[in-house]
Amino acid sequence: MHKLSFIGLGSVGLCTAVCFASKGYKVIASEMDRAKANQIRRGNPPFYEPRLKELLTKAMKTGNLRITSNNEEAILQSDITFITVGTPSKRDGSISLSYVMHASKEVGKALKKKDGRTPHVVVVKSTVTPGTTQDILMPIIETASGKKCCKDFMLCANPEFLREGNAIKGTLNPDYVVIGGCDQGSADTLRDLYREFYSDNLPPIIETNIPTAELIKYANNAFLATKVSFINTIANICEKTPGTDVKKIAEAIGKDHRINPYFLDAGLGWGGSCFPKDLKALISFSKRLGYTPELIQAAWKANADQVKFAVQKARKELGPLKGKNVSVLGLAFKPDTDDIREARSTELIKILLKEGAAITAYDPMATPNTRRIFKRKIHYASSAIECLKNADCAIIVTEWEEFKKLGPEDFTRNMRKPILIDGRRIYDSGKFSKKLRYVAVGLGEPATLISPS
Ligand code: UGA
Repeated sequence: MHKLSFIGLGSVGLCTAVCFASKGYKVIASEMDRAKANQIRRGNPPFYEPRLKELLTKAMKTGNLRITSNNEEAILQSDITFITVGTPSKRDGSISLSYVMHASKEVGKALKKKDGRTPHVVVVKSTVTPGTTQDILMPIIETASGKKCCKDFMLCANPEFLREGNAIKGTLNPDYVVIGGCDQGSADTLRDLYREFYSDNLPPIIETNIPTAELIKYANNAFLATKVSFINTIANICEKTPGTDVKKIAEAIGKDHRINPYFLDAGLGWGGSCFPKDLKALISFSKRLGYTPELIQAAWKANADQVKFAVQKARKELGPLKGKNVSVLGLAFKPDTDDIREARSTELIKILLKEGAAITAYDPMATPNTRRIFKRKIHYASSAIECLKNADCAIIVTEWEEFKKLGPEDFTRNMRKPILIDGRRIYDSGKFSKKLRYVAVGLGEPATLISPS
């Protein structure tokens, strides 16, 4: 079995390292941030992922996983190194390569000291725009190591498609694996590793060259984000068309296997640490090549507008928002996480504050992170019911299970004016509209014609 090392223990690095260790591989994983490394070593992941703590604890106990802050040690004690550091956005939308360049230099420096019979395999898992691995990282490794790529060491691009909250399951059961090799030998070695890792559960493996592999990652995320922006666009048309409901439309078109039912939930738009960063990077990358990707720009704009439309809905119901009590239910960019990076909630709150609304917010997990941004500019409730007290309007921003359990009476009893804007379509419109003013994304006003529900 190959010995593996990981450089960078964010969500992708740690989850993948732990999954390999859980299947018996000897893994040595390096994290520069010593406090974070210590925390992981003690079996405490620095972020929440279902099953991660359990698998991490087991992997540490069996000794299959070792954590270090010494990149060289990790690289020298392995024969395949995965680079899994972050590539955050820069101001102009392009990605910052500083971490991935540093990691490549570290790999090169370590490889200089390594004289194995079989060439070391370097795998770039970090999300990077096409050309980065071959044109920037490969020369860095070659210079630092004094060795030649495809001869003395191998190089692959192997992007990941993990969703937050689904990272372990996604690593163990991916839809597909992409391998871009600098040559056939590099690709073969990585393919054999995955064949062994997945054994009877082998997903389709797409083999290609490095830049195509890099672009697949962006295409995947851009497609999904565009799909959500598309259904949100249909939702907006529904709102202007009496009697129509985007949920039925999504249910219907999702039956067409060419479309499929996933990522067709209309709402206040997409956020998180990936879609926004990757779309910005893809747009900036294309523009630098002299091509403006209008479709992806439109998906971006549609997403930015979606939050503004929610504010318009509130204004339509309440008139000017100055002095009105608005409760915001849900702050995380999606349920089951405390992550508020690029969350729609923060955009919404910023606009509401500008309009002078008094905001009370509640989220089962993401309140501490939100407090760091808005501090005392808004109020924080410790339950959904407390959040609704005396509100003139409530907006559902994240579709937490906890909110789905609320009934119309929870709103009518606690709010000053029971106006509910369901930004994630979590309630039964028939039931709720009878008891309170229920305005929902993608739901047209009732039609005058009598029709089956
Ligand atoms: C996304 C991709 O789904 C992963 O495949 C990819 O690996 C990851 O980015 C990444 O690049 O690392 P993630 O950011 O965890 O994963 O979140 P998603 O579950 O994809 O949701 C993204 C956003 O779209 C959320 O704000 C969610 O609320 C929104 N969304 C999603 C909708 O509004 N409607 C939908 O039907 C689906």
